Amino acid sequence: MGLQEISKRSSIRTIEKIIDETPTVRTLVFSDESLSNVLPGQFAMVWIPGVNELPMSVMVSDEKGKAAFTVRKRGESSTALYDLKVGSQIGVRGPYGNSFRIRDGKILLVGGGTGLVPLLRLAKFAKPTNDVTILMGSKTKDEVFFEDAANRILEKNKHQVIPCTEDGSYGKKGFVTDVMAELMRDTKFDGVYTCGPEIMMYKVVQMANSKNTFVEASLERMMKCGIGMCGSCCMDDILVCHDGTVFDGEFLAKSKEFGHTHRTKSGILENY
Ligand SMILES: Cc1cc2nc3c(=O)[nH]c(=O)nc-3n(C[C@H](O)[C@H](O)[C@H](O)COP(=O)(O)OP(=O)(O)OC[C@H]3O[C@@H](n4cnc5c(N)ncnc54)[C@H](O)[C@@H]3O)c2cc1C
Ligand code: FES
Repeated sequence: MGLQEISKRSSIRTIEKIIDETPTVRTLVFSDESLSNVLPGQFAMVWIPGVNELPMSVMVSDEKGKAAFTVRKRGESSTALYDLKVGSQIGVRGPYGNSFRIRDGKILLVGGGTGLVPLLRLAKFAKPTNDVTILMGSKTKDEVFFEDAANRILEKNKHQVIPCTEDGSYGKKGFVTDVMAELMRDTKFDGVYTCGPEIMMYKVVQMANSKNTFVEASLERMMKCGIGMCGSCCMDDILVCHDGTVFDGEFLAKSKEFGHTHRTKSGILENY
């Protein structure tokens, strides 16, 4: 991708609305016709002036022509994004990356935390005939979000939204992968889609592969350029930002790094 292409896809946007989802998660809404229509799984690079640039999945917005980012405050950069106010400006580049391939029939979406963002966009793109189950993982009741949004997006589909909390304070008790194992005992899904912590996705992919079920995962690796130039997102011999971020179960089963190691900001390979 040349510099011309990068500048064509870059713009400055003003935050128009902020929705508090949980005590640590916020959705920032802004006008952007192009990002409002991205495919499920695509992401943008978000510049927080004076701080950093971060990769973010693009959240569905109810209003036409609006796009959104849903951010959890973690380190310095995400906290700076979280702390922006209505009227603050951000830079956005994108959309980048490939997208999920939605199968016909019964599909299962397994998300953890802000990994639910691309899955809700997938739900929005579901065919009217898809029967959709969403498992939403969080630690406690306070951290459950998007339950209403998911029900709203899927109102015309046969669907069920199942929040799962690790401490059992809301919905099903346990990890989403425990609940997925229970569901897969009785139900044959035509496709499984996942995004969230890599260890969670690794278990989801293993489980689906063991049942010969089509599965795709959207990987959140360290990214600096987002366009295949810097190499910080490399996994085995591929670049996650350029060749993904969505990969299927067959490909992931062959990876030596998926679920085992990841690269830090300085490029060092670290075990999970
Ligand atoms: C494709 C993609 C989509 C993402 N979508 C979302 C989203 O919708 N909402 C959301 O809150 N977060 C999302 N993230 C994660 C986000 O980009 C940041 O990683 C996270 O907000 C923490 O950043 P930090 O610098 O504040 O934290 P730090 O404390 O500096 O880092 C915490 C951890 O975040 C990870 N991280 C830090 N910087 C990056 C980076 N540049 N790229 C990837 N991982 C990094 C590292 O694992 C690090 O250990 C996404 C990441 C990717 C790759
Ligand atoms: S983030 Fe630079 S190559 Fe992928």
